[in-house]
Amino acid sequence: MLKLDTSKARPFLQADWAELKAEASVAEKFLKDRTGAGNDFLGWIDLPENYDKDEYARIQAAARKIKEDSDVLVVVGIGGSYLGARAVIEALRPLVGPAKDGYPEIWFAGNQISSTYLNNLIRALEGRRFSINVISKSGTTTEPAIAFRVLKKLLEDKVGKEEAARRIYATTDKARGALKKLADKEGYECFVVPDDIGGRYSVLTAVGLLPIAAAGIDVDALMQGAADMRRLILDNPGNHPAIEYAALRNGLLRQGKQVEILANYEPGLHFVSEWWKQLYGESEGKDGKGIFPASVDLTTDLHSMGQFIQDGNRILMETVIRIAHSSEPVVLGAEAEDLDGLNYLAGRDMDFVNESAMRGTQLAHLDGGVPVSVISLETLNAHSLGALLYFFEFACGISGYILGVNPFDQPGVESYKKNMFALLGKPGFEAAGEELRKRL
Ligand code: PA5
Repeated sequence: MLKLDTSKARPFLQADWAELKAEASVAEKFLKDRTGAGNDFLGWIDLPENYDKDEYARIQAAARKIKEDSDVLVVVGIGGSYLGARAVIEALRPLVGPAKDGYPEIWFAGNQISSTYLNNLIRALEGRRFSINVISKSGTTTEPAIAFRVLKKLLEDKVGKEEAARRIYATTDKARGALKKLADKEGYECFVVPDDIGGRYSVLTAVGLLPIAAAGIDVDALMQGAADMRRLILDNPGNHPAIEYAALRNGLLRQGKQVEILANYEPGLHFVSEWWKQLYGESEGKDGKGIFPASVDLTTDLHSMGQFIQDGNRILMETVIRIAHSSEPVVLGAEAEDLDGLNYLAGRDMDFVNESAMRGTQLAHLDGGVPVSVISLETLNAHSLGALLYFFEFACGISGYILGVNPFDQPGVESYKKNMFALLGKPGFEAAGEELRKRL
């Protein structure tokens, strides 16, 4: 399954490794015994085994219907109600060219407030049959609510209110909130964001699974991968990759490595890094603490960020996601005239070149004072990705407890919302709006 190699990063540690791991074991126990802060948000721990099987079947039925009646599924959501689905879909579907096998395209909206983007999407939907999956746990988040209001009207104008209601799927709280109310009124099929699972931990609920299944990705394999990783972790307390990762990154933080870069050598993993950044940033960045999660796509960013990583402020640690084998190797041929000087690689496949770039970069960064760990997956598929997601989730819970924060709340997210509402003139925010306008 997944392998974590910290052997080249650990020599950087000033603290004793056994002591760090012992500390991580205490944090792991908090998580498993559900005695730590935020323990009412631990529904994700057993999710790969313990999920609503009826809803799971409804998700697959909805995905089949969307395949039948839509060329595009527009997924409307932001943050934890968006990034997990995008991470899995972009990792496992072709990044260039059309979706294959008759599955719909999956397009995303409501993850910013750009009218340019929304107009672009609306124009691209012209002449295409589409469905909408609107996802919001609270049901009141501004970005998706605005996009949904516009897209709902577009769909209703196109196919009529009744048919639109059959093509809109709402993923939200089981009983509360504006979206649930609207969905019940309009008769949309509803899927549930469980009470005990926060947005950033929700990829294996309907939040992620409906768009992922609609994209034609094997959700059984995704869940199985997560279940296998869960088993490995629960069966080996104190001795599994998640605890090692959590212990290492906290040890390095204490030595001033305040930024962790997640690096990939596979462009499809770009949004896995975005998902990871939310998971770790929102879980740990509080009370003046935390490791800043950053990411790079390599070798692309070696030509832009490589200089800083090699040679800039030494506050960095790096974690590489390595895919050992790609599914379709590209073998380089020989040219009669070796003008580009690449004939020495004739007969080699691009995996060899990518792996050599990765290994060479790892050693260069180690020489530059950046501790580098490597997470290896044999191949990138639904099973290995499920394992990777669960690994990061579990490690994040442990890591947050080592750090001494509640990894399952996000109080800081409200500040920008209050200011935005005040500046927008939302009823109830008038006085705050006046104050803010004076400061602008
Ligand atoms: O993790 C979180 O809590 C946030 O990223 C939310 O998921 C995000 O703000 C979207 O919230 P909601 O699902 O309520 O629309």
